[in-house]
Amino acid sequence: MTDILKASNLHKLYKMGQARLTVLKGLDLTVARGEFIAVVGASGSGKSTLLHILGGLDKPDAGYVEFDGERIDRFGAGRLNRFRNKKVGFVFQFYHLLDELNVLDNVMLPAMAGTGSLGWLAKRRSARRRAANLLEQVGLAERTRHKPYQLSGGERQRVAIARALMNDPELLLADEPTGNLDSKTGNGILEVLETLNRGGQTLVMVTHDERMGARTNRLIRLVDGRIV
Ligand SMILES: Nc1ncnc2c1ncn2[C@@H]1O[C@H](COP(=O)(O)OP(=O)(O)OP(=O)(O)O)[C@@H](O)[C@H]1O
Ligand SMILES: [Mg+2]
Repeated sequence: MTDILKASNLHKLYKMGQARLTVLKGLDLTVARGEFIAVVGASGSGKSTLLHILGGLDKPDAGYVEFDGERIDRFGAGRLNRFRNKKVGFVFQFYHLLDELNVLDNVMLPAMAGTGSLGWLAKRRSARRRAANLLEQVGLAERTRHKPYQLSGGERQRVAIARALMNDPELLLADEPTGNLDSKTGNGILEVLETLNRGGQTLVMVTHDERMGARTNRLIRLVDGRIV
């Protein structure tokens, strides 16, 4: 397997007035294409911070992340935006769906972002088709016209997963995707992720739940700013 992502010597420090909090202290991580990795660690150990840095949503104070052998801190603004929008997909604990839009439109959103008026209609047509297919894959074919607030937690997370897959990301990053769900519903979400991984999707998932983590290819533990 070739490496898709490599993080080297990551340091992250938060300054709050006089106080300094060092969260990551020289963390190294390599993700191979096709892998499903779980990151576990105590609350406040820096799991979300790490995931945000891996996906280019946040910057380390030292160290760097390479995606496909290229350092993302050397990307210009446009390239970094395309990286965040097209190469990686994010799934969050609290879904972050837009309640004004129905399920189908929520899922289509990442494909429509940045589309100019030229070609907008054609783009919309193909995006609709893809969004409908993804919703079918996650078992929500019957819910496309619902608004997020009309769905259960597990259903909302399925919508968020479909949205994260909209631009066919090479890497899917999931931060506590089951953290807000009961164990049965959480299990269903993990099954969706497992199916995606069997189809070749590379996944890094942060979780509190060791049992969920044990079902991935590799479980890594974040302790005192490093992986042990
Ligand atoms: N923007 C910020 N400013 C200051 N401190 C922050 C900031 N973001 C996070 N922190 C602190 O950094 C530490 C790591 O936060 P992070 O959210 O990465 O932890 P986590 O492992 O994801 O925790 P949880 O399991 O509770 O989600 C925490 O102690 C948090 O308070
Ligand atoms: Mg977190």
